[in-house]
Order: sequence, then C-alpha cells, then structure tokens
Amino acid sequence: MRIDILSAVPRLLDSWFGESILQRAQTKGLAEVHVHDLRQWSTDKHRRVDDYPYGGGAGMVMTLEPVHRAITELKGQRSYDEVIYMSPDGELLGQELANTLSTRTNLILLCGHYKGIDERIRQHLVTREVSIGNYVLSGGELAAAVVSDALIRLIPGVLGDATSALSDSFQDGLVAPPAYTRPADYQGWQVPEVLLSGHEGKIDAWRHEQALERTRQRRPELLQGGGNEGDATDR
Ligand code: ADE
Repeated sequence: MRIDILSAVPRLLDSWFGESILQRAQTKGLAEVHVHDLRQWSTDKHRRVDDYPYGGGAGMVMTLEPVHRAITELKGQRSYDEVIYMSPDGELLGQELANTLSTRTNLILLCGHYKGIDERIRQHLVTREVSIGNYVLSGGELAAAVVSDALIRLIPGVLGDATSALSDSFQDGLVAPPAYTRPADYQGWQVPEVLLSGHEGKIDAWRHEQALERTRQRRPELLQGGGNEGDATDR
C-alpha cells in the first residue's frame, strides 16, 4: 500500500511516520507513506496555498490550483484508488471502513487547513471524504495520521503477530478483553487464575466472556448492531 499525503504543513507529520510500527512497515516494504508539501505546487511568488473567500467572511480558503496540480502529477505516476479529503463532515471512520480502505493499493489523503478548501476540489478531485470524529481539528494532518495508522496496521505482516490486528477491539464487534503481564501477583493485585492455567480452551472462553461483558458495560450499542455510524464500507 502506498499513501500520499498532501499538506500545507507537512512537518507536522514527520515524527509520526518516522517511528515504531509505521516506520517498520515502511522498512519492510509493506507500506510507503509520502508526505508532500502542497506549496511546491503553488505558482504564487510567496508559495501561498490559501486565499480570501469569495463573498467575504472570516478565515482563509485553500486554493484549487496547487491541489489540482499535485493530484494531476501524482496520478501521472500511478493510478489511485481514492482521493480522500480529511474533513469533519466526511464519513465517520470506523473499523469497517478502515478494513475496506486497507485493501487499497494507492491512496491520496488531502489535508485541509484554514477555513476550508475551495468547494471545486471536493466536487471534481475528491472521491471520498473521511472524518475521524465529531469534533473540529485545526487541520487534517492528525486525521490523516490516524487513518494511515488504522490502515497500515491491518496489512498482513505489519504487526509481529499475524493474528493481532484481527483480535483488535471492534474487529468482531466487541471491545478487547483485559490483558495482563508479569508479575502474577503485585502486592496482592492478582492476575486471574485462568490465565495462568495454560488451558487454551478455557483461556479463549474466558477472554470471549470478558470481551462480551465489557462490551455490555461500556459500549452496549455495539451489541445492538448500533455504533456503526463510522462503519460505512464502499459507497
Ligand atoms: N479536519 C478537521 N477536523 C477533522 C476531523 N474531525 N476529521 C477529519 N478531518 C478533519
């Protein structure tokens, strides 16, 4: 999978993709993330990528031309499955949407800034809009990092244990069961006996029961087939 992120503030993303799982995924050749500075496609002498809104009003608007030039150049190099605009009014990211997008080969993630982007970008260039939650961030970069992380960790081979992404919270519609590690007894705080039993069947059953119970207590809407507002798949 290759992800190209278009941003007016690319430095915001440097450390995120230079560390840990995402870094390893890239080193192993399983994922490539390229963060591009939109200003490189600006023809303005100050390399601006924003301008005043037609009709007046507060805030600046991201301009059409650099985004169009960037997307055209990238599309000239390979074909893209989606051009995704990160937006608080997009389709809400859920595990199902992450699963769907993780099967794609090439994605462009466009990060908005300022008061918004020229609507014609959304009309003519963007194929999908994704929100990471019902709150407004000051730019799309954090959202693009969240989406990239959620997708890349699903690629087979990225996580050490081949099954670990499948056993994530939400993959089976349940939250994750509790986890423990050594010591088995810390000043009287005990690890549940069953986990020390070595009995795989009993451990699996216990984990499933715990996951169910936790889901009942914390996220009951998942059990009612609800909570899927962020789980849209293909449009
Ligand atoms: N840009 C600003 N807020 C956002 C959000 N909640 N999700 C995606 N992109 C955004």
